[in-house]
Amino acid sequence: MNYKEYLWWHKGVVYQIYPRSFKDSDGDGVGDLRGIIEKLDYLKDLGVDAVWISPIYPSPMADFGYDVSDYTGIHPLFGEMKDFDELLTEVHQRGMKLILDLVPNHSSNKHPWFLESKSSKNNHKRDWYIWKDPGKDGGPPNNWLSVFGGSGWEYDEKTEQYYYHAFLKEQPDLNWRNPDLQQAMLAIMRYWLKKGVDGFRVDVMWHMIKDEQLRDDPPNPEYKKGMNSYSKLLPAYSTDQDEVHDIVHKMRKVIDEYDERLLIGEIYLPISKLVSYYGEDNQGAHLPFNFQLLQLPWNAARIKATIDEYEGALPENGWPNWVLGNHDNSRIASRVGKDQAKNAAILLLTLRGTPTIYYGDELGMQDVDIPKEKIQDPQALNEPGVGRSRDPERTPMQWDATKNAGFTKGDPWLPLMVNYKEINVKKQWDQPGSMLQLHRKLLKIRAQEPALHVGNYLPVLSQDGILSYIRKYEEQQFLIVLNLTDSEVNFAPGFKWTGTVKVSSHEEFEGKEMNDKINLPANLGLVIKLE
Ligand code: GLC
Ligand code: MG
Repeated sequence: MNYKEYLWWHKGVVYQIYPRSFKDSDGDGVGDLRGIIEKLDYLKDLGVDAVWISPIYPSPMADFGYDVSDYTGIHPLFGEMKDFDELLTEVHQRGMKLILDLVPNHSSNKHPWFLESKSSKNNHKRDWYIWKDPGKDGGPPNNWLSVFGGSGWEYDEKTEQYYYHAFLKEQPDLNWRNPDLQQAMLAIMRYWLKKGVDGFRVDVMWHMIKDEQLRDDPPNPEYKKGMNSYSKLLPAYSTDQDEVHDIVHKMRKVIDEYDERLLIGEIYLPISKLVSYYGEDNQGAHLPFNFQLLQLPWNAARIKATIDEYEGALPENGWPNWVLGNHDNSRIASRVGKDQAKNAAILLLTLRGTPTIYYGDELGMQDVDIPKEKIQDPQALNEPGVGRSRDPERTPMQWDATKNAGFTKGDPWLPLMVNYKEINVKKQWDQPGSMLQLHRKLLKIRAQEPALHVGNYLPVLSQDGILSYIRKYEEQQFLIVLNLTDSEVNFAPGFKWTGTVKVSSHEEFEGKEMNDKINLPANLGLVIKLE
């Protein structure tokens, strides 16, 4: 591809905001749109290019906004439409992009569509959801499970049928086989695109179509006691059906009616299946989210093999992407520890492809222990003991050392991390060696150097817990060397090289000239510009 052909979302960095926890402007303890507006200069100065906001639509909040009751409104908790319009204008004024979360697989059970659908078997919206007669024994129509625990089917006494819900019973699945429902959802996309929204992150894209014959899901041979109940079966018929690609393609066509908009898909599948979501001739999602770094053990050989597998599996002109954290998974600094979290940041921001940063990870925020009585997440409340709570990674952003870390003047909806006086934006902004400084440097150099934002990826032979690769664009080359262990190791890639360290997990290495063979102290990460 010619340099000019790369668009903002190829070159740029996405930043995910979980709106309940970013910044509260009105003191109700929950973050809101005006709070986000207040912090746009921070995001601009940090150096990110696009902001994705988790759902802000009207919702009974059974799953914190992933149960939408009005797809074209704003929840009063977050503000009003005029706040949204102002947010969009302010984002654009700063040269950034705004991505919304679209939740098309299911609505809230309080959505007027569902209320109509539920009202009678003859209602014209009956078929907008997945209603089926009971099975032979009077029980659910098949064995499909809910991700959040228990059967995926809920019985409705009045109309004597079951409806399917892949998540909570308050989140009935929409029937994407129905053409009217399809048109209604595509119209919702156009509504936001017309306003100027720059794209969507599509929630649970791989769930959108289910087997037409409703065949039973097979047992999972790897299920063990103590795992959540959803793991008992392999969702072979309830997810990732071939027909989903037609739907994704239809969404993409809507996106393409407008200039330079972006379609991201949330897809938890192995690489070989994930890449099918780019679609035939790349006419599917621009970026099927790549969650490999969320799932792999922190082991150089494993990560290298996965990068190679992913690079090798991408379709021609399919653009890669990498995600290190989100609102559904334990934070990176908790998974790999503070020291390695720095290398993880270097990895995320120097691999080939669009990175997504989860809010607070730029500070090294960690999972927060939530006392039992304060647990909010339905995934944990539904299956106590086995359903992993997602609250720990959803705690308020840490802005400064004042009360509640400057997040709210009221009572925060989730408790803050106790160490916020040490770990916060204000303190780390200019603090040498801080996680935030490292992110600022990485984002800056990534934006400046074509080798880092569009260059090729060339693996480098390495051993002993080192992950190394080169990013190359025309004559410019960067060598990245990461010691993913906590002991000293030698790096000798077997070719001659000379270069200068531009960014490092250990500040004191920056500016040093290096060549050929080096000793890497524990946890050291280097971004070296080669001569
Ligand atoms: C996605 C969201 C998650 C939500 C689920 C159901 O996985 O990221 O937070 O609970 O979908 O909408
Ligand atoms: Mg608020």
